[in-house]
Amino acid sequence: MPVLTETIGPILARKLTADDLPGLVILEKSTEKEPWTVDNFLGEFERPFFLPLGLFINNELAAFLFAWLLPPETHLLKLTVSPRFQGFGLGAGLISILVDLTRRSRGEKILLEVLQTNQKAVTLYRKAGFTIDGRAKNYYLAGDALFMSLMIDDFPAYRPKDGVIWENVS
Ligand SMILES: CC(C)(COP(=O)(O)OP(=O)(O)OC[C@H]1O[C@@H](n2cnc3c(N)ncnc32)[C@H](O)[C@@H]1OP(=O)(O)O)[C@@H](O)C(=O)NCCC(=O)NCCS
Repeated sequence: MPVLTETIGPILARKLTADDLPGLVILEKSTEKEPWTVDNFLGEFERPFFLPLGLFINNELAAFLFAWLLPPETHLLKLTVSPRFQGFGLGAGLISILVDLTRRSRGEKILLEVLQTNQKAVTLYRKAGFTIDGRAKNYYLAGDALFMSLMIDDFPAYRPKDGVIWENVS
């Protein structure tokens, strides 16, 4: 894998707000067959346990993760990396940050659902230590779902990569 910060410059990680909606909607449309609408996004921002994280490269939203922090469980709702920045470790980096924030919120476990045929995502989750707890037939229009979970004690402590500047991630 290329060294991220040398290849595409410094990455800024921070929590997102409703002001980031324009970038979120563009990224969502470029990666999802059934993209969330502005109302879907706004509804999430109103939840007190909602965690929206973004990674920015040259002021552009390059990746985002949406989760619900509900200790002892964290629910990973969305993980999206811009096609231009896929394969550089941003998805893995966002999961590492989520593990760290889950730990700080006294959470013990992260849960998610993923389309079984989404090979990139399933491989990423398996590499991060997630295990498959169950399956559901035709859960999505596109096919079956895998239910996966990660006990966060099974994940190593997060160490930010060089060049990742933290802002408001607490
Ligand atoms: C799935 C997704 C988030 C991965 O993000 P990413 O930043 O490209 O992933 P990373 O660069 O961090 O790669 C981490 C691991 O994922 C796996 N992976 C990444 N690209 C892959 C590919 N093309 N094929 C198979 N596995 C792949 C690899 O295991 C990789 O680890 P490695 O580099 O050590 O081999 C990204 O492809 C994406 O946004 N896809 C569209 C939206 C989506 O499907 N989200 C998940 C819904 S649950």
